[in-house]
Amino acid sequence: MTAWAELHVHLEGTLEPELIFALARRNGVRLPYADVEDLRALYDFGDLQEFLDLYYANMQVLLRGQDFTDLTDAYLARAARAGVRRAEVFFDLQAHTARGVPATEALEGVNAALSRSHERYGISSGLIVTLLRHLSAESAMEAYEQAVASGVPLLGIGLCSTEVGNPASRFREVFARAQADGLHTVAHAGEEGDASYVTDVLDNLHVERVDHGVRAVDDPLLVDRLVAEQIPLTVCPLSNVRLKGVADLRVHPLADLLRRGVRVTVNSDDPAYFGGYLDDNVEAVRLALGLTEDEVRDLALNSIAASFAPPEVKAELAASWDDVAAGTSGGGRLTP
Ligand code: ADE
Ligand code: ZN
Repeated sequence: MTAWAELHVHLEGTLEPELIFALARRNGVRLPYADVEDLRALYDFGDLQEFLDLYYANMQVLLRGQDFTDLTDAYLARAARAGVRRAEVFFDLQAHTARGVPATEALEGVNAALSRSHERYGISSGLIVTLLRHLSAESAMEAYEQAVASGVPLLGIGLCSTEVGNPASRFREVFARAQADGLHTVAHAGEEGDASYVTDVLDNLHVERVDHGVRAVDDPLLVDRLVAEQIPLTVCPLSNVRLKGVADLRVHPLADLLRRGVRVTVNSDDPAYFGGYLDDNVEAVRLALGLTEDEVRDLALNSIAASFAPPEVKAELAASWDDVAAGTSGGGRLTP
């Protein structure tokens, strides 16, 4: 089976309505929705903020360490079926501590599942704590220090939440600190914000990957820079359409960026909310944008190369594509 790396998925965005109701029952939380259908009917978002409001509200059912373990296990099981063999998952620590969940309980809950991901699901994994850009720099630093103090292994830190009006420069200090501590860094940019937000995270935070980054397509010099510096974009096609950042998958900039030499990867972002996991995203762009089999393979190899996995893991995952070498796959759908 050919291997993919998923580099942009928010664990809280994998919280399926069925699990929301199961956890609400287990924890005695009263939900303002009658049932799963009633909740799903709300998954029609006008923009990023409308989505974020519901996404944060639904997290109220995540209270104990076991809840975070169950959430993470459910994602890993589904990701394995999508062909994911490396997962670098995002976790919004501040969204839980702000509700009174102890940082260590939440992180240890996630880690209980991640630490067994290879043995149980054949997925090598890592945890990226995503700092919330609508909150203060002090809150970000506090969350970073809580994450480090928890002793849970961290792959890196990221930056997400409301983009427009929240420039990244406020977070320079915490990103520099994480880099000095030997952690990897990534940041959301160019999802709803324009191309200047991508430049902002590159120049101010010196991140290794840009999450989304699709609006870079509007600035040819920035595209040249992404190519020259080989900065990966973790693109989330179904998310962009559901949040109205892109009008239709058939005009999604992914193919254009890929063909111009940007190291593009495909990811699911918040699959429980946006209609699909990694395999669904790959299949949707393949059909909508008429990607060739070689291009699909390039997307998979980009995801592996852009991951923060150890070199031997990258080599093993990339080797899964050797039999699908350029032009020899013989047609038909590539099953990830
Ligand atoms: N947090 C969860 N999903 C997000 C997205 N698509 N953009 C920014 N922050 C997020
Ligand atoms: Zn995201």
